[in-house]
This record gives sequence, structure tokens and C-alpha cells, in this order.
Amino acid sequence: MFLREALVRLERKDSYMSKVAVVFWSGTGNTTAMAQAVEEGAKSAGAEVSVFGPSEFNSGMVKDYDGIAFGCPAMGAEVLEETEYEPMFTDVESALSGKKIALFGSYGWGDGQWMRDWEERANAVGANLVYDCVMANNFPSDDDLEECKSLGRALV
Ligand SMILES: Cc1cc2nc3c(=O)[nH]c(=O)nc-3n(C[C@H](O)[C@H](O)[C@H](O)COP(=O)(O)O)c2cc1C
Repeated sequence: MFLREALVRLERKDSYMSKVAVVFWSGTGNTTAMAQAVEEGAKSAGAEVSVFGPSEFNSGMVKDYDGIAFGCPAMGAEVLEETEYEPMFTDVESALSGKKIALFGSYGWGDGQWMRDWEERANAVGANLVYDCVMANNFPSDDDLEECKSLGRALV
């Protein structure tokens, strides 16, 4: 009897697939390329991956995922995209305490201030940043894309 229960538990554990969400916004496609690499990395590590735009994700969905990758380029003056992404992240951040997350995004002429501010915000709410933030200058290089894949794997 005990053995059977132990086997059932083992089977359940084996069949458990880690769930990863990739929540991103992109205006001209640079952050989209990064998001695709994040997705690829997480899938290669065995996760079931769901990809969302900012209007499709909210704080109530955080509990459904083991890890969440957030992606947004530098917009405005070193801020997140203000119409959809910023309101979504404001809603979600209160639910991120202890959650495995990672941040990524593309930038242009700045020095990455938007990402430093975003990381600080995530740390302030107690999120578990499992990978260094990945920033790509305009379109991601091959090295940037490899970093994005590693970021995706780290969330699994
Ligand atoms: C309205 C607007 C504001 C931007 N503001 C910044 C900025 O503050 N700092 C920066 O480094 N790049 C800024 N950029 C450049 C974008 O971050 C850059 O083009 C990025 O690659 C866009 O990524 P995407 O293709 O995923 O939209 C801005 C671009 C636009 C269109």
C-alpha cells in the first residue's frame, strides 16, 4: 500500500510541467525577438510557456505560473510603455513577492536607466529575480538572444 502511494506521488512529480509566462510589449519588434528567445529557452528546459500582451495579463494570474518573464523596451523618457505596460505592471507588482521573475527589453539612445529603475521596483516588492536583466541595444545581437534563452531557462 505504502509503495503504491509512493509510486503515485513520484509519477505526479515526474509529470509536473513547470509553467512559465512571458508578458511583453514591443513597438517595433526588437523586444518581440527577445521574447521569442525567452520562450524558446524556457521550452527547451521543459516548461509549458504562455505568451501574453500587457492587456491579457493581470495580478490574479500570477499564482498560475512558476516563473514570469516581463519584457518592455525603454519608452517615454526612460520609462515602461505608459498606456498598457505600466498599468499592467502596477497591478501585478503587488503579487510578485517571492515569485521567480526576470526582466528584459530593448533600448535605443539611453544608458539603461529604465531597466535599473524597473529592477529596483521588482526588488522593492520582494520578487525573486532569478537572472540578471537582459537589455539589447535596438535589435538583439546573437549574444543578446543567447542571454534571453538562458533567462528563459532560469525561470523553469
Ligand atoms: C516614444 C519612444 C520613446 C523612447 N524612449 C527611449 C528612452 O527613453 N531611452 C532609450 O534608450 N530608448 C528609447 N526609445 C528607443 C526604444 O527603446 C528602442 O527603439 C527599442 O529598440 C524599441 O524596442 P521595440 O522594437 O521592442 O519597440 C524610445 C522609442 C520611442 C518610439
